[in-house]
Amino acid sequence: MPKRFRSIFRLVAPLMLLACASGAGPRPAPIGTSLAAPLVIAHRGASGHRPEHTLEGYALAVQMGADFIEPDLVSTKDGVLIARHENEIGGTTDVATKFSSRRTRKVIDGDTINGWFTEDFTLAELRTLRAKERLSFRSHAHDGQFLIPTFDDVLSLADSLGRRRGRAVGVYPETKHPTYFRGVGLPIEEPMLRALRARGLDRADAPVFIQSFESGNLRVLATQTRIRLIQLVSSAPQVTPTALRDIATYAYGVGANTRQIVGDDSSAVPTSLIADAHDAGLRVHAWTLRPEPLFLAKRYGGDPLAEVRELVRLGVDGLFGDYPDQIVTGLRK
Ligand code: G3P
Ligand code: CA
Repeated sequence: MPKRFRSIFRLVAPLMLLACASGAGPRPAPIGTSLAAPLVIAHRGASGHRPEHTLEGYALAVQMGADFIEPDLVSTKDGVLIARHENEIGGTTDVATKFSSRRTRKVIDGDTINGWFTEDFTLAELRTLRAKERLSFRSHAHDGQFLIPTFDDVLSLADSLGRRRGRAVGVYPETKHPTYFRGVGLPIEEPMLRALRARGLDRADAPVFIQSFESGNLRVLATQTRIRLIQLVSSAPQVTPTALRDIATYAYGVGANTRQIVGDDSSAVPTSLIADAHDAGLRVHAWTLRPEPLFLAKRYGGDPLAEVRELVRLGVDGLFGDYPDQIVTGLRK
């Protein structure tokens, strides 16, 4: 294919994929609780290989064998949910070159941040942007090629890929800054549930997990939907046996930092988190497996598969990773 057509194709391919989403084909069997653990969860897509939160990154993850794709959700000015890790998008898009005058300063959940914020842009404006790689030490070969997807785009993609592959492709949305967004009149939970209900996914056995670092919105969601909820935890007080029993009153599982499970590098002694969570009736999904020296614990000696093996040995139920292909390989060995 000539180069100029290749670049056009790259831009329209996601749209062609979406156009096929409503097409015929058998509905894949839902991922029930019977799906073999541990689940492979593509963290922000195959984000080690493609710019995070792009349809191309999610599709690659499914091709690599991921069970779930993970969109983090924030809102646009006109109330549309889009997939971005945070509402400040200067680090993951070309917004600085296209809307330089719209830079501003905000306090988000206590942090003062300078940049460009999704809630200040309409979806039409955000559709003019292209994604770029966040981390300097990862490939930038795909910068400027891919659109910012809406949550509905992600659900369409998962449905389309699931039908094509004959297996359900799970979606694992995370509500980002939910209290902040509700405070500025752009709540995340209602449009998220509407989008899931519109596709018949408001079921306990739907291939969907809803996650949040906040507990307030999960406690409310537990009264509004049967979709399984995951409480993200990042501190020791959140994972005491008592705290875990409380989480079990509204959530299906916890999403824990790997270090909370395997211990830090200085001790290298696994904690009782998985056993305590299982005793409380909770599943445990670990985040985030990344092979680069900046992230991988030193005791694995540079071998990311060793991390997979240790977490599996400890009984983890799901693994979030930027390189789902590596997790799949690690699970096979
Ligand atoms: O959602 C699990 C994990 O993704 C949490 O970390 O910051 O990448 O959303 P973050
Ligand atoms: Ca996340």
